[in-house]
Amino acid sequence: MSDSLRVAVIGAGTMGNGIAQTFAMHGHSVNLVDLNEEALERGMSTIRRSLERFVRKEKLSAEQSEEILGRIQPTTDLAGAVGEVRIAVEAVFEREDVKRGIFEQLDKHAPSGAILASNTSSIPITRLAAATGRPEKVIGMHFMNPVPIMKLVEVIRGNRTSDETLAETVRIAEGLGKTVGVARDYAGFVSNRVLMPMINEAAFCLYEGIATREDIDTIMKLGMNHPMGPLTLADFVGIDVVVEILDILYRDFGDPKFRACPLLRKMVEAGKLGRKTGEGFYAYD
Ligand code: NAI
Repeated sequence: MSDSLRVAVIGAGTMGNGIAQTFAMHGHSVNLVDLNEEALERGMSTIRRSLERFVRKEKLSAEQSEEILGRIQPTTDLAGAVGEVRIAVEAVFEREDVKRGIFEQLDKHAPSGAILASNTSSIPITRLAAATGRPEKVIGMHFMNPVPIMKLVEVIRGNRTSDETLAETVRIAEGLGKTVGVARDYAGFVSNRVLMPMINEAAFCLYEGIATREDIDTIMKLGMNHPMGPLTLADFVGIDVVVEILDILYRDFGDPKFRACPLLRKMVEAGKLGRKTGEGFYAYD
């Protein structure tokens, strides 16, 4: 295990609670910050349920699970939470104004040497860095969902991120048992820039009547040895999120290859957002 660090995770939602859990599972002390007690309680109970699954699978003892929980301190006080951290990881809503506000506060209250990381999947790290007086310390740490399970961290180097910050972030991520892929700070980085056009093209195949949804998924799953087909994956990601990211890629690169399939837009209008609304390309209970 790497040295034990004091860290803060801002946002206790889907990603934030997974990131906090992962740091705590690797011996680090975590201050988990959210806006109110309800959000913190939701985040903590998700962590508890996840740890219980590790115990059921005999990957952790009940005692270890308690120790891990004991290393996570939920709080609504951001300033207090980051006062002594080595790294703060921001995982709040995907809204630039909200994230910039958080980065201003992190810059104000975290020690001057601390790394300020964002888990954003589409907002330029360079723009978040510009909200701080330490752009060389700002970096993207793009974890994948579910964080405790998924191996990858895509590390995004902003325009002014220093070599030292990059090296330390990679070391921290590897200490969490993750494998790192480094990308430069352009829309979609690598992960979404490659994934979203694949999902989009699968949607076009359905839209143009090239194949059924099942056949599209079967061909891509078995033919490319992917764990699931692109339409099934889109339902996991959320159709609204897919369209949002395609729109960002289209806007930033001005390249028509990123135009969202009309079928995806129609699904968003209809509220068929995937698993979270019970229906996307497939229906769910
Ligand atoms: P979420 O909506 O589940 O959680 C966001 C949390 O941030 C909420 O609990 C909210 O109360 C909290 N929050 C909002 N403003 C805050 C503030 N000012 N101070 C403290 N807490 C605040 O969102 P999710 O899905 O966890 O996404 C978070 C980030 O992770 C986004 O940037 C998203 O793009 C990125 N991401 C999401 C993935 C996913 O699969 N959901 C995958 C990879 C990255």
